[in-house]
Amino acid sequence: MAAHVRSVVIPAAGLGTRILPATKAFPKELLPLVDRPIIQYGVEEAVAAGCRRVVLVTSPDNTMTAAHFAPNPALEAVLEKRGKSETLALVRSVSAMAELTTVHQAQPLGLGHAVLMAAPAVRGEPFAVVLPDDVIDAEPPALRSMCDLFAELDGPVLLVERVPRDAVNRYGIIDASPLRQGVYRVRDLVEKPDPADAPSDLAIVGRYILTPDLFPVLEQTGAGAGGEIQLTDGLRDLMAQRPIYACELSGVRHDAGSRLGFLQASLYFALKRPDLAPALRAYLRTLD
Ligand code: UTP
Repeated sequence: MAAHVRSVVIPAAGLGTRILPATKAFPKELLPLVDRPIIQYGVEEAVAAGCRRVVLVTSPDNTMTAAHFAPNPALEAVLEKRGKSETLALVRSVSAMAELTTVHQAQPLGLGHAVLMAAPAVRGEPFAVVLPDDVIDAEPPALRSMCDLFAELDGPVLLVERVPRDAVNRYGIIDASPLRQGVYRVRDLVEKPDPADAPSDLAIVGRYILTPDLFPVLEQTGAGAGGEIQLTDGLRDLMAQRPIYACELSGVRHDAGSRLGFLQASLYFALKRPDLAPALRAYLRTLD
């Protein structure tokens, strides 16, 4: 039986160029979807999957993201004095959610490099990776299904989603053989293939369950596409040593790191909120 997955690594040290200028001085992962920062959705999903240790990878000059998950005694005192008990409970629930460790990635040298920076913090155990931009609504939560699969198969598990053929060049794509409905053994991975050469339409999206034997492999992985150390390249090298599996997403994913995806995610989550949905729907009907 595979070890329990207790840590989640959240890489958040990228430049966020797709959504500039919003991210020029402000961390992308703190942009709000309704009233919660993008990253909080990912942390809540990880906690629901049993990962209470959060390893946040940020650039050294970003202190705001960790601050979101830390207690804020001054704010809490004001809310208490004003008798705002519901808001106080909400604020406290964010800092009580998980045990946070921050590690720094001095330069955005790629996702593989960001994951490597988290190596000491995961203490030689299997760990999850959540890319905060990919905000997923699924029941059971996607990461929980992946942890269950990891417990069964005792090998790294990637989350994949079918994407339109003309979009494969934006993702890592797997070549895989099905083990059963929605579960695959990965045969190969290619980063951003040309649609004509893509081995499938199964794209790797922002959730992984990984094992610590990936770290020495990543240390040897050279720069790949875009001059960055790609996680996909590291996984490809790891596959020479052990089987890797994939789990197909059943749920809804938004890429909140793109302009359109951010807007769609904002509307999607607002329309799920009983306190906002009726007025928002009425407003949307007045447009167009
Ligand atoms: P993305 O490529 O989606 O994010 O990386 P980005 O680089 O910030 O954004 P764009 O493409 O320029 O708009 C996926 C995740 O990996 C993190 C990002 O912060 C994001 O959460 N990342 C990426 C790192 O932590 N370090 C890196 O070197 C690259």
